[in-house]
Amino acid sequence: MKFFIDTANINQIAEAKDLGILDGVTTNPSLMAKEGISGEKEILAHYKKIADLVDGDVSAEVIATDFKTMVEEGLRLADIAENIVVKIPMTKDGIKAISFFAEEGINTNCTLVFSAGQAILAAKAGATYLSPFVGRVDDINWDGIALIKEIVKIYSIQGYMTEILAASIRTPLHIVQAAKAGADVVTCPLNSILGLFNHPLTDIGLAKFLEDHQKLNK
Ligand code: E4P
Repeated sequence: MKFFIDTANINQIAEAKDLGILDGVTTNPSLMAKEGISGEKEILAHYKKIADLVDGDVSAEVIATDFKTMVEEGLRLADIAENIVVKIPMTKDGIKAISFFAEEGINTNCTLVFSAGQAILAAKAGATYLSPFVGRVDDINWDGIALIKEIVKIYSIQGYMTEILAASIRTPLHIVQAAKAGADVVTCPLNSILGLFNHPLTDIGLAKFLEDHQKLNK
C-alpha cells in the first residue's frame, strides 16, 4: 500500500518525506485555503512547489464544475509537472472529464466518492485513482472501511485498473484497516501517520535496553 500525505502544508510534506515512506500527496480546495493559498497564479505556484518536493504523484483538484472549464483547468494543472494528477469530483461532468483525460494519457483522481456505484463509474471512465472518503462515511454512522472492502472486491472481480486510494483518514487505525481491506493507497494527515509509531512497549523496551547498556558502559 502506498502512503500519500493529505495536506498542502509544505513543512508537513517535508517532514513525511524525511521519514522515507512518502509516495505522494493529495490536496483539495479546503486544504489549499487552510494554507492561505488563493488566486490561480498562487495556486499553480504552490502545486509546483509541492510537485518539485516529492517524487510521487501530487493530486491537484479542479475548482470548475462544468466539463469544458474542468478540462481547461485540468490541462493547466497537468502542465505544471509530470507528477501532477488532476483531481476531479464525482459528477456527470467530472466523469466526462476523467474520460477525456484518460484518452489524453493524463492521470486523474476521482474524488468525493461515497458508493460502490460511483466507484464503478470512475473505473469505467479510466480514472487513475479513486478516492472513497472513509472518515466522512464514518461521520454519518455508516462504515467507511466496509465501503473500501466492497470496492476492492468489485475491482478485483471486474479487473479494473483504477487504484483505490482510501481518503478522509482520521486515525492510525483507519490506515491499518485500509491496508487490511486491500486499498492500493492511503492518504492521511501527518498526525495519523505519526500515530502509527506509538506503542508503550516500544518505549519501555527501548528504555530498558539503554539502561542495561549503560550499566556496563559507563
Ligand atoms: C483527499 O483526497 C480528500 O480530499 C481528503 O482526504 C478529505 O478529508 P476530510 O474528510 O478529512 O476533509
